[in-house]
Amino acid sequence: MRTHAQIRWAPISPSPTLLKFAGKIAASGKAPTLDVACGFGRNAIALAAHGCDVVCVDRDLLRLRQLQTSRERLLGAGSIAGQPGLIMPVCANVREEFWPFSGELFNAIISIHFVKIELFPLFFFSLATHGYLYIETFGNHGQNYLDLPKPGQIRTAFNRLFAVIYYDEKRVGPRGDAVTVKAFGRKMVSRLPS
Ligand SMILES: C[S@@+](CC[C@H](N)C(=O)[O-])C[C@H]1O[C@@H](n2cnc3c(N)ncnc32)[C@H](O)[C@@H]1O
Repeated sequence: MRTHAQIRWAPISPSPTLLKFAGKIAASGKAPTLDVACGFGRNAIALAAHGCDVVCVDRDLLRLRQLQTSRERLLGAGSIAGQPGLIMPVCANVREEFWPFSGELFNAIISIHFVKIELFPLFFFSLATHGYLYIETFGNHGQNYLDLPKPGQIRTAFNRLFAVIYYDEKRVGPRGDAVTVKAFGRKMVSRLPS
C-alpha cells in the first residue's frame, strides 16, 4: 500500500510532445478533454492551464486525490495567463468491458503511458466528430520493451479509426521488435463504415 509521502515523489512535468498539441486541443471547443489513466494528473493539469476542462479517470483513488491538490497549487501559483480549466476526477477501472462514458462526449482524449489498443474503438465512440486523440506509450527503460507494442501494431489500429496528424514510432529492445509510439490524430467521421 502506497502512502501519501511516497506519492509526493511522482514526476510532475507533462509530456513535451502533448504540449505541442495543447493549443489545438484547447481551441477544439467547449466540451471537456478526457485523460485516460491520468495518474497524478501531470498532463491534465497542463491542459487545464491551457483552459481545457479535463475529466480525469484513474482506478487509483490516492492519485486522484493528489490531482486535486495539484490543481489547487496551480491556481494558487497565479502563473496562468487565462482562466484555468476544471479538473473532474472519476475513479474507475476502465477496460473494454467497462467504459463509463457515453458517445460524442469529449473534444479530445489523451492516453499517456497507458496505451491499450482495445480501447481505441471506445475512444472513437466517446469523441465528438473532429475531436482529437493523443496517445503515448511509456519510454524504453530496462526491460520495459517486453511490454511495448510490436512495430506497426498501433499504427494499424490508429489509422483504422483516426486521421493521423503526427506519428512517431521508434524501434527499441535488443532485437528492435518493440516500439515506443507517440501519435496525434483526429476523428473525421461520426460513424465507422460497417
Ligand atoms: C504509468 S501511470 C501513467 C499516468 C499518467 N497518464 C501519466 O502520464 O503520468 C498509469 C496509470 O494508469 C492507471 N491505471 C492502470 N490501469 C487502469 C485502468 N484499467 N483503469 C484506470 N486507470 C488505470 C494507474 O492507476 C496509473 O495511475
